[in-house]
Amino acid sequence: MNRKYRKTVIAGNWKMNKLPSEVKPFADELKTLVPKQKWCDVVICAPFVDLPAAVKAFRDAKVGVGAENLNENEKGAFTGEVSANMLTDLGVKYVIIGHSERRQYYGETDFSVNAKVHTALEAGLNPIVCVGESLEQREKGITLELIALQVKTALSGVSADKMRRVIIAYEPIWAIGTGKTATAEQANEVCSAIRGVIRDIYGARVARSVTIQYGGSMNEKNAAELLAQPDIDGGLIGGASLVPEKFAAIINAANQD
Ligand code: PGA
Repeated sequence: MNRKYRKTVIAGNWKMNKLPSEVKPFADELKTLVPKQKWCDVVICAPFVDLPAAVKAFRDAKVGVGAENLNENEKGAFTGEVSANMLTDLGVKYVIIGHSERRQYYGETDFSVNAKVHTALEAGLNPIVCVGESLEQREKGITLELIALQVKTALSGVSADKMRRVIIAYEPIWAIGTGKTATAEQANEVCSAIRGVIRDIYGARVARSVTIQYGGSMNEKNAAELLAQPDIDGGLIGGASLVPEKFAAIINAANQD
């Protein structure tokens, strides 16, 4: 973290978990466990059908609500899809774009990610853009090149002004849901390289201010060590965000003075 220059953002990614009726009990418990966040922004990204309940339940708390995907088109004949304006109309503020599960199971590419980033920014949403390498790619030693390409393509055509609303989440695929976390040094190395790519495109000031999260088996035990790294400005948390006590402990780790 580097609170002098940029926001720390702790975001939960519920994936395809939690019923709409489970949202309020979760929110009530989280609000009791974390009465106020001093230093970090907190976000809950939830399935589309949970979003109305989440916006309502977190309205009186400083917790932003995010979607887990959106369609890149403004509106029209796209059966089963959800547009950016539908999300903002509900009061949703964030959207995860290009999560590795969407790339793996739903054919999303760096180019579709780029289109979605533009759509989200145009609508006033804050995109959380996910990048990350597979185990095979890491073992071949091409992690930094691959991540640089993902970041450059995802941000292609995004203005420096709009970059202020973009969050990047570095999520090594081999660490997601596996209980295998990248070491703090491994995670920081890639987050720092991502900041370098942003510096090359946008200059030092923008690079210094962009929030770069780590994601992949982040939990209440390893959060403090990961967040102590200079280039890790928060987390995108799957499994541990489903349990109020665990998610609260991660928020508290980011709130340490
Ligand atoms: P995990 O998921 O914390 O369960 O590993 C992280 C993510 O996929 O965003």
